[in-house]
Parts: sequence; C-alpha cells; structure tokens
Amino acid sequence: MAYGPRFPFNEIAFMLLICAPDLISGQLRYSILEEKEEGAFVGNIAQDLGLNVRQLSARKFRLSSDDGGRYMKVSLDNGILSIRERIDRERICRQAEMCTVSFKTTLENPLEVYRGVVEILDVNDNPPTFGNGSIVLQTSEASAPGVRFRLERAEDPDIGINTVVAYTISFTEYFSIKTHRTESDVLIPELLLDKSLDRELLSSFQLLLTATDGGTPQRTGTAQILVTVLDFNDNAPVFDDDIYRVSVSEDAPHGTLVLKVKANDLDEGLNAEIAYSFSDVDLRRARHLFSLDPYSGEVRVEGPLDFEEANSYSLAVQAVDHGSPAMAGHSNVLIKVIDVNDNAPEIKVTSASNKIPENAPPGTFITFFDVIDRDSGENGQISCELPKNIPFSLQTSSNHYKLITSATLDRETISEFKLPILARDLGSPSLTSNKTIHITITDVNDNAPRFAESTYNVYVMENNAPGASIFVLTALDPDLEQNSYVSYSLVDNFIQNLPVSTYLAINSMNGTIYALRSFDYEELKNFQINVQARDAGVPPLSSSATVNVIILDQNDNAPVIVSPSEQSGSAEVLRRSAGQGYLVTKIMATDEDSGQNARLFYQMVKSTDPTLFTVTKNSGEIRTARSILQTDISVHTLVILVKDNGQPSLSSTVTMNISVLENSTEGITESSTLVKNSGYLSDPNVYLIIIFSCTSVVFLLIIVLLIGIKCKQDRSIIQGYNTPSYCYNRGDSQGTFNGRPAMEETLRYPGTGRVVRVPEPHQYSVCLSPESAKSDFLFLKPCGAPTSQAQ
Ligand SMILES: *[C@@H]1O[C@H](CO)[C@@H](O)[C@H](O)[C@H]1NC(C)=O
Ligand SMILES: *[C@@H]1O[C@H](CO)[C@@H](O)[C@H](O)[C@H]1NC(C)=O
Ligand SMILES: *[C@@H]1O[C@H](CO)[C@@H](O)[C@H](O)[C@H]1NC(C)=O
Repeated sequence: MAYGPRFPFNEIAFMLLICAPDLISGQLRYSILEEKEEGAFVGNIAQDLGLNVRQLSARKFRLSSDDGGRYMKVSLDNGILSIRERIDRERICRQAEMCTVSFKTTLENPLEVYRGVVEILDVNDNPPTFGNGSIVLQTSEASAPGVRFRLERAEDPDIGINTVVAYTISFTEYFSIKTHRTESDVLIPELLLDKSLDRELLSSFQLLLTATDGGTPQRTGTAQILVTVLDFNDNAPVFDDDIYRVSVSEDAPHGTLVLKVKANDLDEGLNAEIAYSFSDVDLRRARHLFSLDPYSGEVRVEGPLDFEEANSYSLAVQAVDHGSPAMAGHSNVLIKVIDVNDNAPEIKVTSASNKIPENAPPGTFITFFDVIDRDSGENGQISCELPKNIPFSLQTSSNHYKLITSATLDRETISEFKLPILARDLGSPSLTSNKTIHITITDVNDNAPRFAESTYNVYVMENNAPGASIFVLTALDPDLEQNSYVSYSLVDNFIQNLPVSTYLAINSMNGTIYALRSFDYEELKNFQINVQARDAGVPPLSSSATVNVIILDQNDNAPVIVSPSEQSGSAEVLRRSAGQGYLVTKIMATDEDSGQNARLFYQMVKSTDPTLFTVTKNSGEIRTARSILQTDISVHTLVILVKDNGQPSLSSTVTMNISVLENSTEGITESSTLVKNSGYLSDPNVYLIIIFSCTSVVFLLIIVLLIGIKCKQDRSIIQGYNTPSYCYNRGDSQGTFNGRPAMEETLRYPGTGRVVRVPEPHQYSVCLSPESAKSDFLFLKPCGAPTSQAQ
C-alpha cells in the first residue's frame, strides 16, 4: 500500500481495481465516507480475493482486528464488507489528513490471512466553532487606523475543504477582517481598524464574527466580538461659561460664597477628574482675597474686600484633569465689588488754629479744608455743616471748602471759637465725622477805657494833709494787653486862676488822685476837674470823667464878735426906769465856718449881778431880767461867751459894760467902755494910731504903684517880647507859692477866695526873672527898680 497524497474518491476506487491483483501482499484497500449508516457497503472482499463464496463459511471466513471489527463486519454469504457502526472520522482520527481503519481477514484450511485498510473519507459534518462564544477586545481610542487585532480562530474538526475558509464580520465602518494563512495552512483572522475611534462618541462595539467552511453544504460559526474603547485623555475640561460675572458686596465676610465654577470633561476616570485653580500667577493680591476650592469649584471671599482699593477683579481660573498628560480648560471670573458705605468722610484741615482780627469785615477768608470720602456714588457724596448762630459760613466747590466770616466779630464778646465741622455722607446709613477748627479773635483797639460813672463826687475834709490820696479813679478797657493799658491824666483846667495841677496830681498808672495842697473850705468850697483815661493802643482811645471835689467844712474858725465891736468899744446905757424884759443890746457874731460849725450859741459867763441880765441862747439878745432897783449899782460888767456848734466847738468872749442912767438923757459915761478880753488892745489911742498908719500906707502904696506903672512902660520899650515880666500874685503869709506864672489881670487871693479887680496901673505885682523862676527862691522887687538884674 502506498501512502501517497490525497486522492479524490474516484481515484481510490480506481486504485482498488489496480491493487486487487496485489493479493499476495494480502493488502486490501477500501474507502468509505464517514457517517455511513449501519450495513452500508464498503467492499466485496470475496470477489476481490477471488474466493469461492461457497467455501467461505467452511473455511471460517472472519474479520479480526480491534477497530476494524468494531466498525465493520463481513458477510459469510457473499463476502461483502459493510458498516457495523457509524464511523465519525473526527473521533477516530481527529484532524489527521489520512484516516484509515485497518482490518484482517482470516481463512482456514489452508490458513490464509489477508490484511486491508478502509480509508474513512471526510464529510463536512462539523461547523466551525469558536472556543468562547465571545471575543473581548480593548483598544485605546487613540489607536491609529491600520492597527490589527489578532482574533481567535474558529475550530473546525473537518479537514480540507471542510474546514474554515473565510471569516466575515458584521458591518461597521470602523473595523474590517483580514485573514492570512500560516505556514501550516491555518487561516488566521485579524481585526483591522479602519477609522479613528472616539470613545466619547462610541465607547464599545459589538461585532458578529462569522467563520465559514468550504464544505457542501457550507457550515458557519459565529462569535461576538466586544470591542471596548478605552479612554484617552483627549478632552480638556470645559467650563460652563467663558466668563462668569458676579457681584459681591465689599463688606462680605470671610468665607462668603461668591460663585461656583463648573467644568466638564468628556473623558472618563482620571481623565475626567478635575481640579480647579487660579491660573493667573500675577494676581497675587486677588488670590489673597479669594479662594477657589479645587474640588467643588467654589469661589469664596478670603480676605477683606475694599471697593475703594479695587472695584472689580478678573480672576483667570483653570480646570485641570488628572489624565496623563493632563489637559486644562480656562475661564474667567469677573467679580464686581459693590460699594458699601464703609468710609466716613475725612476732613483735612490745613491749619487747625487760625487768627483773625475782630474788625475783619464779613466775608473775610479764614481757612481752607477738604473733605474726602473714599466711597463712591451716594456713599461718597458729602454735605458739610457748621453750627447755627455763629458768625461763620462755608463756601464750597466740590469737596473743597472755604471758611469765611459771615458777620462782624467782637473779641470782647467772644474771643475764641471752636467750630465743630460736621461732615456727613449721603450713604444709608450715613457716616459722619467732625473736626474742630479753632479761631482766635485777635484784639483791635475798638474800646475806649470806660469809667464806671461819668461824674464822681469826691469829698475832702479841709485842712487835709498835702500829698495824701483823696480818691482812686478806675477806668476799664475790655480790650487786650496794650489796647487795655489805661493811663490817667488830668485835663488842663484852671481853678481860681491856677492850673489844676497845682491842686491835684493823679497817678497815671492807677488813677490815684492826690491833693497837692491843704484846702480851706472857707476859700474854696468845691471845684471840678476832668480826668482823662487813655489806652495804649494805636491809635489810642480815650474817655474822660468829671470829678467834683467837694471840700468839707471843719470847725477851724472861732466865732468873731462883730458887735459890740472891739475897736469902737461898746458901752451900753440903760435907764433905771427900764422894766423887766427890756432889750439892752444884741450881740452880733459871725463864724466863717458853715453849718453847725457856724451855728452860734450865746451864754453869759460872768455878770456883776447875775439876777439882772439874761442872754438868749440863740439870738444873743441881752435883756433885763427884772426891773432895776434903786439899790442896784450903776455900772454892770458882763462877759458873754459865743460858741459855735462845731465839734469840738470854738468860742470867743466879749466883755461889755452897762451903765445905768438915772432917768436922764446924759451922754455916755466914760466909764462905759468896751473892754476887750485880755490879749486885745484896749487903748483907743492905739486904734487911732493904727487907723492913721493904715491910711498912710495906702497913700504910700498908690504913689509906689504910680511909679511902678511908669517903670513898666519904660521897660516894655527896652525888652520887646522875649522877656516878659512875670507878675505873680502873692497872698499873705498863708498863701502858697506854686512857681507857675499867671499872666492875669485879675488877682485871686487864694487865702480869701475873694476876687478883687484892681485897675491895671495899680496892680500889686512883683517882678520875677525867668532864671529865678527855676529856683525856689524868688527875688521880689518892685518893678522897674534900678537894681534889677533880670535883663
Ligand atoms: C470566555 O472565556 C473567558 C476566559 O478566557 C471567560 O472568562 C468567559 O466567561 C468566557 N465567556 C463565555 C461566554 O463563555
Ligand atoms: C465729634 O466727634 C467726637 C469724637 O471724635 C464725638 O464724640 C462727637 O459726638 C462728634 N460730634 C458730633 C456732633 O458728631
Ligand atoms: C498807685 O500807685 C502808687 C505808686 O506806685 C501806690 O503807692 C498806690 O498804693 C497805688 N494805689 C492803688 C490804689 O493801687
């Protein structure tokens, strides 16, 4: 038997014919299709071996062999080999190309053994099968077209043409099937990627793979191909918005949620896991103010916002996925900060203390100030107020203020202002602030010194001590400092022809008035002076007051008894017939003082017969107390005391003689003479001498004056104007000398207070040279005396 290449069925039959003679080798060969039913004819052994059919049973024709005997049998009747049991070629031979079942036939008498084989021919009785009904494939969506995936091939136990000859898949534009044969002639299917995948479009494919064999009828097997497209990070996260716009109040507290950004990533898994962050590195400040949660995308307030610093923020945000490489998406968050009235106005004063003179007219500029509010809109609009009822007002242009005076000022009323300036914005609630501006009103000399009264009465007791202060005048000046320094002076005036300065002096600093001389009430009862008070301002202001100096009487004069006169003597006569109450005489007395000091009382202090005469206390009348008796003496001597009512009182006495006449009218007896009290001259001759002397002196004086007038006329011609003759009035020994010239024609005798008009030619004057006026010593000479050195 030759094992050659595979032959078609017809060739096998032909071989049997040509091999039949090859009986010597005992080789029989048959072929039969598998899966033949029982009893199917395989071959006629008897015929092929040339055996006699009738001898078969005699010679115990039999089939012996393990598998041959199992699948086939021989018939003793006709020697035909047939199928005993259905033969499955694949079971016996698996995939072997040549599948044979060998057998052995035995004949006895003589023993003959023939061998043979039955070739089992394949029938397409098996479909292609895939080991696992489904094929799972995974591929990245990034795989490029042209990639091949090796597929599991289908098994077909048949052989030859009955095995798999082609693969196909269900239609898809992404994949196609390519096959190739291995060296061992096995058809290998491969899946070819025709088009780029996109997981986001199609994440998996289910394809039906069909394997087809070449038998007739054709048989097929299928399997599911499950292609899972794996994600590739080909999609960046994308934010919902290109720009997020949001507003937040500037007073939003820490942690306030501003907004939530959201990005989507079409990828999956890590490729779709997103972390948010700020992408702008420059905006350090903004990043301190806002936080961005990397997971939730929440933007929150992190730091204190200030509209005045920045009213909006633009934050660049990014979303980065966790793919490898990672991809990022970008967006912007525009945060608008809303102004809140969180800034109070601020008052900026250039100078907080200002000085302005009190005579500044209304409208005088004082100072500038600015008011600033860092808020905007209404929150930054400002109104500025001053207190009411003050002499100041504001002028404004935008937020620039000018403080000016609006009325006249008076430092003496208000010397200083502390102006609270209140600035208020129009926000709601509005905020305020205030600042105080100090304004000092400086003094202007607008007030003259003022005396409390316009007229003062000053009472001075006569006989005052020269140089003593008699009064203090005070004038007040409400101005300040120099403008209020008051000095006092006496206004030039003449009192009894003498300058006021000879009477009084005033302390210019404190207004104390001093009497320069001792006043005599009996000469000068009162006088008026004007005192001026003047301040030291520029220009100075002054005012004056009148001072009435009233000299008070002092009991410094004793009563003077006029009648009966001392000189003429007084002898009263009284008729003896005079009855009771007869007015003998009346004592006449005067007192230079006044008032009580001049009120006189009369009193009899001595009498030769106290019972005869009485004196009335008030009037000084001397009357008889009783009728005169024949027994009474004829001459009576009375001593009358006259006293004034001063304190202490002063008194004088007079002694008078009263002669009682017998009822005749004879003259005055020589004995009734008035006798002056001791101390007074009593000799009438002395009086006569005195009267004569006085007359002579007056006559002499007239002569002297006549000569003086002549001398004055001569001297005027010689001297001209420059050296006038000073004529000083001169009092008696009591007169004070004041060293001041008095060119008057009227002489005033200070000692008497009486004014005596003297005809000019008869002026009683003394000459004084200017040089000698400076010294206390005066040369008193009759004018025109040849010894005068004045010229
Ligand atoms: C295919 O085989 C795999 C193991 O290779 C198994 O896990 C799977 O369950 C099988 N599928 C079917 C449908 O039998
Ligand atoms: C001015 O400001 C002070 C504090 O600076 C405050 O006490 C006062 O009340 C304010 N005055 C007004 C009128 O607002
Ligand atoms: C006025 O000044 C004088 C001199 O300084 C002084 O002696 C006198 O006491 C003062 N008078 C008053 C009222 O101050």
